[in-house]
This record gives sequence, structure tokens and C-alpha cells, in this order.
Amino acid sequence: VNSFTGDLRFSATAARARHSAIADLMVRALVRPGTLSLAAGFTDNAVLPVSIVRDALAHMPAGGGCLQYGSNQGRPTLREAIAAHIGSQHGERPDAVGADGIVMTNGSQQALYLLAQVLCNPGDIVLVESPTYFVVFDVLAGLGIEAVELPMDAAGQVDVAGTGELFERLRAEGRLERVKMAYFITYFSNPSAVSMTEGVKRALGSLVAQHVPWLVTIEDTAYRDLYFSRPYPAASMLSLGEWTGLPLVQTGSFSKCFSPGIRLGFFATNVPALVEKTMCVKGQQDFGSANISQWIAEFAMTRGLFDPFVAGLRVHYQAKAKALDDALGAGGLKALGWRWEMPEGGLMLWLKGPTGLDTGMTGAFCRACMDSEVLYVPGDFCYANAASAPRCNVRLSIGAPPVEDLREAARRFALAAQTVLRG
Ligand SMILES: Cc1ncc(COP(=O)(O)O)c(C=O)c1O
Repeated sequence: VNSFTGDLRFSATAARARHSAIADLMVRALVRPGTLSLAAGFTDNAVLPVSIVRDALAHMPAGGGCLQYGSNQGRPTLREAIAAHIGSQHGERPDAVGADGIVMTNGSQQALYLLAQVLCNPGDIVLVESPTYFVVFDVLAGLGIEAVELPMDAAGQVDVAGTGELFERLRAEGRLERVKMAYFITYFSNPSAVSMTEGVKRALGSLVAQHVPWLVTIEDTAYRDLYFSRPYPAASMLSLGEWTGLPLVQTGSFSKCFSPGIRLGFFATNVPALVEKTMCVKGQQDFGSANISQWIAEFAMTRGLFDPFVAGLRVHYQAKAKALDDALGAGGLKALGWRWEMPEGGLMLWLKGPTGLDTGMTGAFCRACMDSEVLYVPGDFCYANAASAPRCNVRLSIGAPPVEDLREAARRFALAAQTVLRG
């Protein structure tokens, strides 16, 4: 190849784009084939909806329309099915959102990017939980947006009183006007597996109305359907009276509860102008997410196949979470000062190592894990403020590995913990 190796005159956007730390971790797993990864956010190949997708393709409407360009906003029947699905969930108002307020996107990742693009300028502020979904930091940094951590309590909930104080502080610093969005993962969060209580949601609604009524609050519900024993008993903000009259967005995804490979997500909002603006920008990017993927999701949802499929996933992932939880316990981690809870849904276990342990990429523990051929996500990736991020946490994903690999990975992880403790 006759490569060009001179200096390219990159844009400011390119200059801000960072190499993703998680991509580095994946590469390491690939170059050492024996490595077991509890780091990747993949789902389990064993439970992908292969037969539903085959059926959906076999039943494509005559004329091949779903192999044609679709609409920018997305298939109306699918959006209606999603609106009905949201409205039927625990505690929701049946009319929490209408099909007109939904935009289909290429994964919920694109929804997050579009929303940040249409709402924020470089130098603006987005409020985030700590910890939170670390890929969001790349989105924000890529657009020159500052992520500011919200104070959290010991149970992993947003500290509402502390958030009020934060608003006062930002006002005193003349920065409150720059706060444009807040981003919450409210069901079985990645990474913490914590869900936001309805009480906290209601109190936050009142606080936002009082201090920052222009703030667009994003509620990421990527893992909501993946509860284990029971739905998490909190309605989404779209159904709560305290949020009435405030701009809200709910993002959702078909990745975790169906198939990441169809790259389909959406956002639902009570702000018609946000639908309009994001569609203008989406029009610049792709003028509509893949019509065929949307047909597959529509087929699953409208033929009564989606709910039983997700019910199967819940049983599968609960068993995997329990296997990892048991194996970590059997590895003696608790006696070494590690703490964690069995999650009630989602794909993550969030472990707190003993105080003083450094789980960061450059620390002895991470090295010991790599030597033992097991990978995890260092918890400090998940905090906006690197300087104050706790250094002793770890995110483990139950998504991809089969149960026997989860057990073996837990054994290696516990061995590394013991090795490091012995020095
Ligand atoms: C909390 C959360 N939000 C959004 C996403 C993006 O997922 P997708 O673009 O596949 O919908 C992920 C993926 O891991 C996630 O964990």
C-alpha cells in the first residue's frame, strides 16, 4: 500500500478524540487466546435470537420494502410497539410516551451522541453519576463537553441534598447556565448494578424544577428489561408527576435484551423540538437507522415473541450472575476485604476491593490478573473526575463467558487478589 505518512491537518473534533481505554483491553484479550475476559460488555452468543431473526427475514413484507431506505425517525409500527412496551412497564403511565416522541437510532450510543450534539456546545456541562457508563466520557470529551460528577451516597444513590448544594456552587461560580444535560442510568446500572429509587427520582425532579428547569435529563434504561426476579419497582421519570413540565429523554436499546448486532436503540422524549433537531442532525449522518434491523425488532415485538425471549434471558443471566457471585465467594475474596452484592438485574458485578488496593491499569493487581489471564474493567474508568476516583473498584461482566469460564475466571481473579495481598 502506498500509504500517506505526512501530517494530516485534523479538525478540533479529531484532536479531542481519544483512544478508548477499553479497546486496549480487548486487544490484550485477543493477543493472548487463553485469556478470560470479564471486561467486555458483550452479551452471550448462546442466547442470541437466531431463530427469531430467521423467522423475521422469512416473513419480510412482500415487495422487499424493508430492504429499502426507511424513514429518518424510524418505522412507525415499531415506535408504537416501543411506546406501548414502555407504558406497560412497572409503575408507568400507559401514555408515558407516544410513537411521535420516539426516534430510532444506531444503538442507544448514537442517541447519546445526537443528544449531546444538539444540546451542548464545547465548554458546556453534563452532570453524571459516579460511577457511570465510561463510554459516555468519550462522547462528551469528543465534543469538548465537561462531565461533572454528582455527589452519591453510600448506597450508590444520587445524594439529592448534595446535588442542591452543587447547583448553588455552580451558580456562585457563574457556571450554572452551562449545565445542559444530566445523564442517569436508572435500572441495574453499568457498572454499579444499582437502580435509582423512585423516591430519589421524585426528589431530583423537584430539585431540577427549582434550580435548572432548562436542564435536559437523560434516563438511560439499557438494562431495565434484564431484571432477574422482579422488575425494579420504580417508574421512569416520564411517568412521575415531579418531572411534569421538564424536558426529559429516555434512551433504550435492543442490544442487551435482544441482539447487539442489529445495532438498534432509540430515545423517547416529551420535547417535540428535540425530535425535530436530532432528526436534522441524524439526517446529516445517515438519514435513518437500518430498516432491516427495525423490521426484525418490529417482528419480534408485534408477534408476541419479544417478551418470552427476554423472559428466557432473565433466567439465563441470573444463573450466570449467581455462578460468578458464588465462585468469587468460594475464592475467599470476602476474607481478603472485598465487598460486593449479588445484582438484581443487568450484566455487571461491581466489586469494592480492600482500601488501599489499586485496581488501576498500571497497578500490581491488574498486572497479576493479566499474568493469570483474566481481564476486568478497572473501576476508576467509570468516574468523571480521575483525581478523586476511588482506585479500588472493579467491574466484572457476566455477559459473554459461559458459566464454566466465569467460574475459572473468578478462580484466577481470587488467586491474583491473594498474590497481591501477600506482596
Ligand atoms: C448503560 C449503557 N448505555 C448505553 C450503552 C450503549 O449500547 P448500545 O449502543 O448497544 O445500545 C451501553 C452499552 O454497553 C450501556 O451499558
